[in-house]
Amino acid sequence: MQQLQLKISNLMDMEKFAHTLAKYFNDEGAVIFLDGDLGAGKTTFTQYFAEGLGVKDVVTSPTFNIFKRYKGKKHYLNHFDLYRIQSNVYNQGFEEYWYSDDITIIEWANYLPNEFRSMFSLQLSLDSVSEDVKIINVLGKNSIISYIKEYGHEFVR
Ligand SMILES: Nc1ncnc2c1ncn2[C@@H]1O[C@H](COP(=O)(O)OP(=O)(O)O)[C@@H](O)[C@H]1O
Ligand SMILES: [Mg+2]
Repeated sequence: MQQLQLKISNLMDMEKFAHTLAKYFNDEGAVIFLDGDLGAGKTTFTQYFAEGLGVKDVVTSPTFNIFKRYKGKKHYLNHFDLYRIQSNVYNQGFEEYWYSDDITIIEWANYLPNEFRSMFSLQLSLDSVSEDVKIINVLGKNSIISYIKEYGHEFVR
């Protein structure tokens, strides 16, 4: 695992970063953790990321549904939001999706109980500097960090 810090200056940057990242995950399923306050841009990132995976459906916030599943070009995208249920993730059938070949995004992953906290290959912690400007602290598998350094170098601080 390696760390990296990114600066996203506006919505267009976020779109570009998410699309770039999606290209990597077209070849490899993964669990991605998204952390950050309300309005930090977790769902917005996921919407662009889903576009990049070839998801045709409109991706909406799963805050009230907890979980939504979309069909991408190569992978399914599972989109979770733990804000409402926090750590009450047991006996809901979630693990079947987390330990699969799909791509899974978990908003508010910070609420996950300890035993699930290491199942990610990429963690993005979003911080709002302003409405438009976001700092993203990235922790990820070395191969993903290398990929971001190469193809997303314009966002690396
Ligand atoms: N650079 C940016 N990245 C992400 N969202 C942004 C950015 N600039 C403005 N926004 C806006 O901020 C809001 C973020 O909300 P949302 O993605 O729902 O946050 P969260 O899921 O973290 O609660 C959206 O209305 C989005 O259009
Ligand atoms: Mg959200």
